[in-house]
Amino acid sequence: MLRLQAGIPAEYNDASPDDLVERIAAAKESLGDRLFVLGHHYQRDEVMRWADARGDSFGLSVLAQQRPEADYIVFCGVHFMAESADILTADHQQVVLPDLNAGCSMADMANIDEVEEAWDSIAEVTDIERVLPITYMNSSADLKAFVGARGGAVCTSSNARAVLEWAFNDPEGPNASQVLFFPDQHLGRNTGMAMGYDDSDMAVWNPRADLGGLSEAEVKRSRFLLWKGHCSVHQRFRPAHIEAFRAEHPDGIVVTHPECSYEVCSMADQVGSTDAIIKAVAAAPTGSVIGVGTEIHLVHRLNEETPDKTVVSLDPLVCPCSTMFRIDGPHLAWTLEELVAGNVVNRITVPETVAAHARLALDRMLAIT
Ligand code: 13P
Ligand code: SF4
Repeated sequence: MLRLQAGIPAEYNDASPDDLVERIAAAKESLGDRLFVLGHHYQRDEVMRWADARGDSFGLSVLAQQRPEADYIVFCGVHFMAESADILTADHQQVVLPDLNAGCSMADMANIDEVEEAWDSIAEVTDIERVLPITYMNSSADLKAFVGARGGAVCTSSNARAVLEWAFNDPEGPNASQVLFFPDQHLGRNTGMAMGYDDSDMAVWNPRADLGGLSEAEVKRSRFLLWKGHCSVHQRFRPAHIEAFRAEHPDGIVVTHPECSYEVCSMADQVGSTDAIIKAVAAAPTGSVIGVGTEIHLVHRLNEETPDKTVVSLDPLVCPCSTMFRIDGPHLAWTLEELVAGNVVNRITVPETVAAHARLALDRMLAIT
């Protein structure tokens, strides 16, 4: 989705790194407890050093709720995370995204028109009352609202299994026969496989084809209708990367994010969210070499912050998330100084008509996990 960030004053882009440090520190000091800065693990170091709390997308959504005294939540992450924070926080709190162009290409792979069209098509061939929509956190607020209005839930990479167990197996849950899972096919497939389902239980829904490119029989029999979406950062990791890593480090440990393909995740020693990756590195024995399949800023930070272990990217070519990378020192300094001056720039708001249903889907997730 196009969200045009207007240019910021040249004084910020021209400032030296030391100047920016001084200005950000002064602005933070002046705002005190009225400000709460959240940093997703993929943020660059020049931004992350200012985060009052770091986390994965689940952790950050919980943290955002836990600071009612903060008038301003400056979200150093991407747009869907800031939207979720706005939905979950109190009315007096304002959520700010330092660069409006920090979106998520995966989240943009499903929009409300396509999902409504898919839902109507599925309803033509199967009992739609038994189909539950589940959306990954990486989705726009109107998709979360679509899910919330139909009894479904949001999930993140750290709780997708718990949410899917609830969908299918919880005696007090919705007792679904099928789920429409969007927008990341890989998270859906990896989670379903870990739960004991197999390929024959899954079908990929292509929003650009009639009936998702599937036969009626395929739609009816699939437990998982997996939206044809992916993360371009995580889809880069290939089985050959793991083979090469293991050839070089026979005792090495491989940890991947569940947005990587099933071929990759099924070869890994551990699969988990960004927070789970951090925990896996912390738990590895001293001297371990750990090959990680996720965004490069987190991999580099883990390597720097864990001097007794070696943490490397499975893909030797750098793979940054270009939208997370948009949040930088100049944008953070600009945002904070505007707040000090009483101007809230780049506020992210979700209209209450959308937020009410989206909150249902987020609250269900929080209650399940
Ligand atoms: P986490 O929930 O693991 O932080 O993942 C968010 C994300 O966008 C990964 O690409
Ligand atoms: Fe989106 Fe992928 Fe970036 Fe995560 S790493 S924010 S899924 S584009």
